[in-house]
Amino acid sequence: MKIYGQKREIIINSFKNGDITVAVYGLGKMGLPLVAIFADNGAKVIGADINPDVVETINKGINTVKEEPGLDELVYKNVKEGRLKATTNLVEASQDSDVMVILVPTLLDENNIPDIKIVESVCENIAEGLEEGDFVILESTAPPGTTDHIKTILEKSGLKAEKYWGLAHCPERTSSGRAIRDITQSYPKVVGGINPKSTETAEALYSVINEKGVIPVSDAKTAEAVKVFEGIYRDVNIALANELALICEELEINAIEAFKVANTQPYSNIHLPGVGVGGHCIPVYPYFLKTPRKGLIRLARKINDFMPQYTVNLVVKGLKTFEKKIENSNIMVLGISFRGGVKEIRWSPSLTIIKLLKGFGANVFVYDPLFNPGEIEELGVRYADQFDDMDCVVIASDHKEFRGYDWKEIGKKMRTKVVVDGRQIVDPDQLRKLGYIYLGIGYI
Ligand SMILES: NC(=O)c1ccc[n+]([C@@H]2O[C@H](COP(=O)([O-])OP(=O)(O)OC[C@H]3O[C@@H](n4cnc5c(N)ncnc54)[C@H](O)[C@@H]3O)[C@@H](O)[C@H]2O)c1
Repeated sequence: MKIYGQKREIIINSFKNGDITVAVYGLGKMGLPLVAIFADNGAKVIGADINPDVVETINKGINTVKEEPGLDELVYKNVKEGRLKATTNLVEASQDSDVMVILVPTLLDENNIPDIKIVESVCENIAEGLEEGDFVILESTAPPGTTDHIKTILEKSGLKAEKYWGLAHCPERTSSGRAIRDITQSYPKVVGGINPKSTETAEALYSVINEKGVIPVSDAKTAEAVKVFEGIYRDVNIALANELALICEELEINAIEAFKVANTQPYSNIHLPGVGVGGHCIPVYPYFLKTPRKGLIRLARKINDFMPQYTVNLVVKGLKTFEKKIENSNIMVLGISFRGGVKEIRWSPSLTIIKLLKGFGANVFVYDPLFNPGEIEELGVRYADQFDDMDCVVIASDHKEFRGYDWKEIGKKMRTKVVVDGRQIVDPDQLRKLGYIYLGIGYI
């Protein structure tokens, strides 16, 4: 059923009754949870993706985003009950749908200029199937102004936006591994249409799946700004934590202790310092703003980008206490994921740390519980899950597993006992008692 401009109750009821068909473009970490939630609330859903393996697996009822809790069951149930299917035919998905949601990656090129080519190409596909009464939603995070820009591509359908079909930006306010919870119950959905009718249509749609409600904003550009600002807020605050941690090192105080106590006051919310900021969201979104070109936001990026180098400086310092050079030393890097529990290496600071260590001539070994040996070796580094003859261990990801390590046993195997903890995983006092040289970010 076509829903653009329909009454709120009609949209809500037809969603729940399965009278609306929604196509979601992009079945990744964000797209698949959304697809499963739409289907579980009654809609008929077509997941459209260019990856035939992903499509085939989902059509068997198998979840392809393993780190998302609860998604196995949702995908299985909704495929089995006939509400969810996947396809690589992007045009047909548009032809067969009433609502088309775009949730493909939005990236940066090599000069850090926003690259929305994938969104644009999906819009070309949607335009071929666009009909009167359809409703298009951009959920991918995008530079403010993108929704207005894609309107012109979608109008290649020959149908004028606003008059014949609606368009809104409704950003994903979540992160990998917690999408189901966030989409359904953590915080309200933000929706901004290209006209009031589009905003109202989006408000009705998302009110079905989000129990925290929906916040309609003035227009699509405001909704785009909300999402980009949320990411920038984190980037700038992590940079502040990193800078303060470096100052704490000079002052010879424990940053984590100072931050925790400072944060008992309600106006202070100092974040955790670490080896840097990764993933394809937080380090990317600052570049989605064309202005300011200089200033705090850019400076924060610089500070966060410096942290992998700082981590390697700690390795050099640690090895020096054994009169060792980094060249030809055996260094074990624990973790390549940018965040604990998430299998994602895009913009991961670990990759920069590894590159810098290799540049110094170190023998770099990598272990990450979420990656198999083949996947690690594909990155041009050696896989190791033992610590024999290591000269230094660098903890670069905050995977839970690393917290349970027996450092007494590990120490017996290492050649020189240096640990550089970039994620506050180990207890410095305990390690020092065991005879380690401990250097960390956040603790002295
Ligand atoms: N991952 C996060 O934590 C997160 C959080 C909030 C917002 N977002 C935003 O969500 C969007 C998607 O991110 P993600 O993490 O789901 O990405 P992802 O890389 O996990 O998945 C993207 C999917 O899109 C598919 N795809 C690529 N080109 C396509 C095309 N032309 N047509 C159809 N499918 C195509 C890929 O095959 C893949 O399955 C991005 O804009 C991102 O900024 C991500």
